[in-house]
Amino acid sequence: MSHLLEVKDLKKHFPLKRSWLGASTGRVHAVDGVSFHVERGETLSLVGESGCGKSTVGRSILRLFDLTEGEVRLDGERIDNLSPRQLRPVRQKLQVVFQDPFASLNPRLTVREALAEPISNFESGVTSEAMQSRVDKLLDLVRLPRDAGRRYPHEFSGGQRQRICIARALASKPKLVICDEAVSALDVSVKAQIVNLLQDLQDELGLALLFISHDLGIVEHMTHRVAVMYLGRIVEQGTAQRIFAAPKHPYTQALLSAAPGNAKAGKRIVLKGDVPSPVTPPQGCHFHTRCPYAFDRCRVEAPRLENQGDGHLAACHLQALPV
Ligand SMILES: Nc1ncnc2c1ncn2[C@@H]1O[C@H](COP(=O)(O)OP(=O)(O)OP(=O)(O)O)[C@@H](O)[C@H]1O
Ligand SMILES: [Mg+2]
Repeated sequence: MSHLLEVKDLKKHFPLKRSWLGASTGRVHAVDGVSFHVERGETLSLVGESGCGKSTVGRSILRLFDLTEGEVRLDGERIDNLSPRQLRPVRQKLQVVFQDPFASLNPRLTVREALAEPISNFESGVTSEAMQSRVDKLLDLVRLPRDAGRRYPHEFSGGQRQRICIARALASKPKLVICDEAVSALDVSVKAQIVNLLQDLQDELGLALLFISHDLGIVEHMTHRVAVMYLGRIVEQGTAQRIFAAPKHPYTQALLSAAPGNAKAGKRIVLKGDVPSPVTPPQGCHFHTRCPYAFDRCRVEAPRLENQGDGHLAACHLQALPV
């Protein structure tokens, strides 16, 4: 059977705005050849520093814009080349929860109306009684009281609003939900509640999650697998257990060593310099300009994601990293 989601050699380059002199000034290599898959009922977390291309991967899958290159398959079917009309049934299977629940909800709709909208968009002939019970069930699923349906988004806290967004995403009975920094704006305790809710929903509904986050701490205990991005590419991928216990790539090692509250982190690894511009990414390995172990080959040849054992993938020319 095919993977639920399969992304192959995805590239998304944005043209830079023309300067006032009218000269074109290059392209932003936001995503530069990314491949991964998500299984049914699985959580894959996409992590990395701000600007590394995580949201662009999510938005490409959702086809919020056309891809520069690559293929995206959902349930075995190619979805990257579909017309807007052909995409409609795909959107039913594929939903998204964004960071800002206030911006995602129409302030003029009651919660009940907001939850009914996607149901009537995707299904025709739903009677008002059936709609009532569907909306009640959605509120139950996200642990909100049923009378919440009569109220408006501004009457809720940030965490409750995010529950409403999750319920809205679940209304079309999707197979995959992309959570793009879905808990990043919430207080620590609320963050944990929403993460727990997502895990419960995954168990109850067999849902798959693509969890996009720059917060490694939140990811560690809730994800099955992790893909680490750096400057538009995946540099390491594996089970959460392997990535957090024994990261192979120097970038992942540095990222984990700097993660707040990471008790396992030994000495903090401080990387030299800044992340290079995605307009002119370095030749060879994108990370070589900051890598403490870089050697000649890294400057000319981009390393491929190679299996390091047990499906743990790392894109690094160093076969055995110094401990
Ligand atoms: N519509 C766009 N036009 C031009 N450049 C863009 C566009 N969207 C994103 N970019 C650029 O692409 C790169 C990747 O952006 P992206 O939003 O995917 O990063 P991210 O990993 O999600 O970051 P963050 O953690 O801050 O959300 C950045 O350099 C960004 O400025
Ligand atoms: Mg983002």
